[in-house]
Amino acid sequence: MKKLTIPEIIKRKSGEKLTVLTAYDASMARLLESLGIDIILVGDSLGNVLLGYESTVPVTMDEMLHHAKAVRRGTSAFVVGDMPFLSYQISVEDAVRNAGRFFKEAGCDAVKVEGGTEICDAVRAIVGAGMAVMGHIGLTPQTAANLGGYRVQGKEAASARKLLADAKALETAGAFAIVMECIPDQLAKLITERVSIPTIGIGAGVHCDGQVLVTHDLLGIFEKFVPSFVKRYATLAPQIRDAIASYRDEVRAGTYPDEKHSFTMQLDVGALFSEEK
Ligand code: KIV
Repeated sequence: MKKLTIPEIIKRKSGEKLTVLTAYDASMARLLESLGIDIILVGDSLGNVLLGYESTVPVTMDEMLHHAKAVRRGTSAFVVGDMPFLSYQISVEDAVRNAGRFFKEAGCDAVKVEGGTEICDAVRAIVGAGMAVMGHIGLTPQTAANLGGYRVQGKEAASARKLLADAKALETAGAFAIVMECIPDQLAKLITERVSIPTIGIGAGVHCDGQVLVTHDLLGIFEKFVPSFVKRYATLAPQIRDAIASYRDEVRAGTYPDEKHSFTMQLDVGALFSEEK
């Protein structure tokens, strides 16, 4: 599959909807690419999904880079690396240096940052250094505690206006796309109409220019919590449990490995050791 370019992604504002999914390893990245998924996001959701953290806050640059490199090895599609908490908020220099690590060390095509006007200096500097930035507004998991927890954002006039201002500020700062998480679909429609770059919705209704989901949620592998906007296209966790229970039972019963799964051959083992003293 030919990797999308930034102009091609922006052009999709008035074309086919963009499909975005998360991957944290090479095998999943390969699967997503084989199905023509447009953008692969190495999300810091890996903190919850893979690493067992309670939130995305503890995720480090080294953890993100480890997984971003694995994804890069598995695909030639467009890969976005999610900048973890405090890798871009402390100083603009830090933001550029850490964004650069996603490009130089992991071969990412873009980075994603959470926040609006307050992070636009960092966005401008990263873009100014030649790197593509995807914004993320609405429910921003890294700072969810300040937003009153995992809840729909932009229901009141002040917060809805702030979200529109954030989207416009990100566009002006040079972002090429904006993820909008957990906002009313009418607000997502209005913001989508008022910015010239694609909006990628997650819990933001159907009017966005594209959609993103955490692949483990869509597949029904991650069972700890399921946001109400997630559609489960498969329920793999019970199937995984069934398969592993069968393996466990067959190993205990001595029925695995059977002949078909063993290297059973005509071999005089005694002769192999006949010269042993
Ligand atoms: O970390 C992540 O996977 C994300 C998506 C849910 C947008 O930020």
